[in-house]
Amino acid sequence: MIRRFEPTDLNEILQIEAQAFPKSSYTAEMFFDFYRCFSETFLVFEEDRVLGYIIFEPSGHVISLAVDPPHRRKGIGTHLMQVCEAHCKGDTLFVEVRIGNVGAQKFYERLGFHLKSKIRLYYRTEDAYLMEKKGPRRD
Ligand SMILES: CC(C)(COP(=O)(O)OP(=O)(O)OC[C@H]1O[C@@H](n2cnc3c(N)ncnc32)[C@H](O)[C@@H]1OP(=O)(O)O)[C@@H](O)C(=O)NCCC(=O)NCCS
Repeated sequence: MIRRFEPTDLNEILQIEAQAFPKSSYTAEMFFDFYRCFSETFLVFEEDRVLGYIIFEPSGHVISLAVDPPHRRKGIGTHLMQVCEAHCKGDTLFVEVRIGNVGAQKFYERLGFHLKSKIRLYYRTEDAYLMEKKGPRRD
């Protein structure tokens, strides 16, 4: 099931985070900041334990998304993105992805995103692609 993040999820989230983003993991403090700012749009996918999470802004900016490595390619990331898309009121979804993260680019392309532009040194030492998906206006 998908539900809102709760502070007791933090240890599981940090473990997923360390494996998903070893070069730029968010810290516990950053996750608490996200919880404070985006309490309705910081969501976790849980079965017996937390297997993935997504943080997004209601305007359509995907801040972060990660799935526990042994549970990838089972549709969890897609499910989290579908909930994000249903929640966002704006016309466009967008996300920054490391240019070396080809797997995530394929994932977002499969969901209908396309490469919009390159953001130089977005990750300090690595460029990012800005990927976006235009959708029907729902507001
Ligand atoms: C990107 C990520 C969230 C995808 O989650 P997931 O649960 O594995 O994704 P899904 O199972 O819903 O994948 C749906 C489809 O996307 C594509 N896809 C997903 N991961 C892919 C990969 N590594 N390489 C190529 N295509 C991929 C496939 O078409 C897949 O369908 P298939 O398995 O039937 O071939 C996950 O790989 C992850 O946590 N990566 C590390 C963190 C990250 O890069 N996050 C995104 C940047 S913000």
